[in-house]
Amino acid sequence: VWASVQQAPADKILGLTVLYNKDTNPSKINLGVGAYRDNDGKPWILPSVVAAEKVLSQTEENKEYVPIVGSPNFNSLIKKFLYGASASGQSLVDSGRVVTSQGISGTGALKVLAEFTKSFYPIRKVLVPNPTWANHIAILEKSGLETEPYRYYDYESNGLDVTGLLEDLRKAQEGSVILLHACCHNPTGVDPTLEQWDEILEVVSQKKLLPILDMAYQGFRTGDPIEDLAILYKFCDLVAAGKLDNFMLSQSFAKNMGLYGERVGSLSIVTSGEEESVRVKSQLEKVIRPIYSSPPSHGSKLVEIVLSNPEIYAQWLKDVKVMNDRLVDMRALLYDKLKNTYKNPLNWEHLLQQQGMFCYTGLSPEQVSSLIDKSVYLTGDGRISIAGIYEKNVDYLAKAIHEVTTA
Ligand code: LMR
Repeated sequence: VWASVQQAPADKILGLTVLYNKDTNPSKINLGVGAYRDNDGKPWILPSVVAAEKVLSQTEENKEYVPIVGSPNFNSLIKKFLYGASASGQSLVDSGRVVTSQGISGTGALKVLAEFTKSFYPIRKVLVPNPTWANHIAILEKSGLETEPYRYYDYESNGLDVTGLLEDLRKAQEGSVILLHACCHNPTGVDPTLEQWDEILEVVSQKKLLPILDMAYQGFRTGDPIEDLAILYKFCDLVAAGKLDNFMLSQSFAKNMGLYGERVGSLSIVTSGEEESVRVKSQLEKVIRPIYSSPPSHGSKLVEIVLSNPEIYAQWLKDVKVMNDRLVDMRALLYDKLKNTYKNPLNWEHLLQQQGMFCYTGLSPEQVSSLIDKSVYLTGDGRISIAGIYEKNVDYLAKAIHEVTTA
């Protein structure tokens, strides 16, 4: 019966890890998936998470199902963590206007938001940045929504095309959904400045767009997860000022707690009031139950411990800073190798200016395949994960980039 099933292409990001694992070259480098590695190129279990595991092993009473939207403790800690340091955010929470749910990491949270939007929002159109994370389009379209790109990246300056972005939003259908990356835009590493965010939010408000803020890299812009909530707070302020009615948020602990495989994150839906929130929550449960019934509990229990134990929380803030500092150092090291050791003639300033786990190098698809021939794995759009760089492989990498860009 499956004779007509065609071979699907490999995943543009995760497929690279499969190729990398098969490669026998000892110098191979994986700059594909956005997953943190330490300075020996090894995955890192955060010391704060190790401490939380210890607490959990001594205190866990059962492995029962958690409620469909996650445990009440998880949800109340999430509200405090995400909104508590902002006066307008806390007042939204206090007035019962924020519905949260545990998500199966950011991807699962976004999928639930997409399904909810399709069921209850009259407009199917979602404006998405061009480019955006490849899986965004798949998640939204597989949920029955339509995507329409808005200009985002300026290939001339390797920065933000803010004029094009604002023009496209002004032209968009009123009331469209808009997907925005909260920080460390994936794949480009280019974020609007805080002033540019104000301009974007002005148009979002005028056009009555319904924002979905996707926050997978919280902590990797400034090294401080709370400081990186600045954009979310701007959304809360806009609601408090009566200039925006609602917004949604998908958020992940994959990168900033290193809980990749635990699949833990959250979603928020801002409503018009407490009574509406009760109805929204009841329908969220109806969306989630037939997809995965209820969320996994190991990772969410670890998050609960990290967020509620002051010592472990303080350790976590340090851990995020360690990761972020290493990424900043690796950007500088690669830049130095390219410009000073190999005297590469191209302008690599964007390597230093872009933020988060990724650099959008500007390498062409041909240059990418030449790099893959040299066992350096990166996505076809020229995105590199800075986390895959470490002191022992940076020279091989810089030499390979120099060779393919000067051939
Ligand atoms: C990435 O963009 O590399 C990460 O978000 C991992 C993934 O699932 O694609």
